[in-house]
Amino acid sequence: MRLKERVRLFIRHNRVILLFRLMLEAFFEACSQSKHLGASNMMHDEVKFAADLCIRTHAIEKGMSIGSVRMGFGQPKVLALIDDLLLYVSRFPSASIDESMAVIANYIDFNRTNGCPVEAVEARYEVLKKAYTLREEMAAGIATCSKADTLEATKAPFDVFSQSRCSIRDFDTRAVVDLNDIIAAIDIARKTPSACNRQSAFAHIYEGAKAHQLFDFQGGTNGFGHDMQYAVLITADMRRYFINERHQMFVDGGLFAMDLLLALHYKGLATIPLTTAYKTNQTRKLKKIFAIPSNEVPVMIIGIGAYKESYKVAVSHRNPVESYYQVHR
Ligand SMILES: Cc1cc2nc3c(=O)[nH]c(=O)nc-3n(C[C@H](O)[C@H](O)[C@H](O)COP(=O)(O)O)c2cc1C
Repeated sequence: MRLKERVRLFIRHNRVILLFRLMLEAFFEACSQSKHLGASNMMHDEVKFAADLCIRTHAIEKGMSIGSVRMGFGQPKVLALIDDLLLYVSRFPSASIDESMAVIANYIDFNRTNGCPVEAVEARYEVLKKAYTLREEMAAGIATCSKADTLEATKAPFDVFSQSRCSIRDFDTRAVVDLNDIIAAIDIARKTPSACNRQSAFAHIYEGAKAHQLFDFQGGTNGFGHDMQYAVLITADMRRYFINERHQMFVDGGLFAMDLLLALHYKGLATIPLTTAYKTNQTRKLKKIFAIPSNEVPVMIIGIGAYKESYKVAVSHRNPVESYYQVHR
């Protein structure tokens, strides 16, 4: 091998040099993210502020869709949300808060119907109604679905099938989930495309108490985590990627996760995707406690349980199709 080629390979494969190249990449990435992430200058940017309000609105919707919901839950959070909605519409008068309005109205109604009126919220909501004129009525809050209809839809054409999948937080705790169905779904999801067919995604399956321990650690399943029977932690193997592909593992792993979610839905299991977006220290702890090799990156968890005959879901309103695309000519 010629000297020039040897030097090139040395630079490419040397760990210390790679560390410096990665630090440079991380620096440029941090520059862009410090400007664009929602965390920076949030209250003065319409889109960033809206994202924060969307997350907090959805938290209320999610709360109502939990099987064993505590009536009157979250009032201080709803009051704080209303205050920030007032601030948002005063700063950005052309922006729409129709979805938040609908969710809060649904929350008030939900608690009142279940014998727990939330008077402080109702009073504050009246103030919001005076400050903002509703533009469009929309379905929001919770909806009730039937297991029979859902199972029928899982065998329907793709447009009906995919629309019938929802994140479930209201499970049947007596019906037993069959591990073989999860493995059959993983078998289906092997068809997921991956960059250069690297197939780096991997599913760690946790059962029973171990799954509950993972849900407790994950933190986003309060009130329903222990009603699920399995947790599938999807990871991707860093060893199969190179310097320009530092995020490719999340794309490949994310595609696998979505495919698996649909395959589990096809097998008639009630599922919910759960975030593993943590800062470094928490990711380290997750790997240590749940026996994830250090070369794997956590991508997402899927919680799995059984459908009730009749179950609640959060509506999770979707933005109009026009907001999802732009044709470039
Ligand atoms: C990556 C990811 C992470 C999520 N994390 C949570 C979570 O921690 N807790 C939760 O209740 N829902 C979680 N969800 C579910 C979303 O709230 C849900 O997918 C969204 O509202 C759309 O609703 P749908 O899945 O019913 O269509 C997560 C979804 C995704 C895709």
